[in-house]
Amino acid sequence: MSFPIIRNRRLRGSAALRNLVRETQLTTNDFIYPIFVTEGSGVKEEIGSMPGVYHWSLDLLEQEIHEIAGLGIQAILLFGVPDHKDEIGSEAYGNNSIVQRATRKIKEWEPDLLIVADTCLCQFTSTGHCGVIRRDEQTGRADVDNDASLELLVKTAVSQAEAGADIIAPSNMMDGFVQAIRCGLDEAGFEHVPIMSYSVKYASAYYGPFRDAAHSAPQFGDRKTYQMDPANVREALREAESDVVEGADMLMVKPALAYLDVVRMLKEQFDLPLVAYNVSAEYSMVKAAARNGWLDEKAIVLETLLGMKRAGADMIITYFAKDAARWLRGE
Ligand code: PBG
Ligand code: ZN
Repeated sequence: MSFPIIRNRRLRGSAALRNLVRETQLTTNDFIYPIFVTEGSGVKEEIGSMPGVYHWSLDLLEQEIHEIAGLGIQAILLFGVPDHKDEIGSEAYGNNSIVQRATRKIKEWEPDLLIVADTCLCQFTSTGHCGVIRRDEQTGRADVDNDASLELLVKTAVSQAEAGADIIAPSNMMDGFVQAIRCGLDEAGFEHVPIMSYSVKYASAYYGPFRDAAHSAPQFGDRKTYQMDPANVREALREAESDVVEGADMLMVKPALAYLDVVRMLKEQFDLPLVAYNVSAEYSMVKAAARNGWLDEKAIVLETLLGMKRAGADMIITYFAKDAARWLRGE
């Protein structure tokens, strides 16, 4: 009689044994929690397409910030939803604009909570694009003007650093944005502030609920002339390579779930800390199914986040951060 020579089940026999041989750990230290801040007062408004995620006015935010820190979450990602938009996204870089004011407040309330500032213009431009638009005289075609946008993005990053942001996270996908922002920060005396680059950001339908949340849908056209084609992975290596050369401190892949092969690839090819962005539709799909009783939300979320780490992410931006922190505590 012949028996299996190899018995992999031997190491699965008890919880203690499984704990001992586990290869990947998910911890609350891995999470970055996005927050949407808005003008006005008395605002705590749930985003329709993202149950459990809110717009906050600054007068109501303090409690929430303490709760986040109390859960052991160490970093938040700030998105601003301004009152006023114009073609050049002025509210993105105003000294008293919403993100800058929120940053100062949060630093008073929880000095140790890391503030990651999303550096982009799309929430602030009337066009909803991530830069300023230039119309080609000859063809009449309108597109984002790369270098003119860089100047505004540098102003945005510097104003965020001046307000006290700990990490600058440019998500605009212009060519040369890391270099431009690095120079701008250095010249302004912020050479110690790291850049978390949204290096590999695909033109994705998975941002749909976020654009509702941030009121940042493009008013014409799409983002395909600057965000990446979902079909491409070698191009992702070029995007990451240029960011490394330009001085990025951390790299990001976004979205995460449909692009875990890209996460793995960047992990293997580059030595910088790697971020996966578990984006809005990845969140909303799970929430919707959970509300219907179709799946076990806690198990699904923890398995998904673990999968992102296993693929190679060192940290994860996720709207599930608060829930997951509680679940990891055994609540
Ligand atoms: C804006 C920005 C987007 C996200 C983060 N920053 C969306 C976009 O490019 O339209 C997406 C976040 C999410 O879907 O959770 N540059
Ligand atoms: Zn943008």
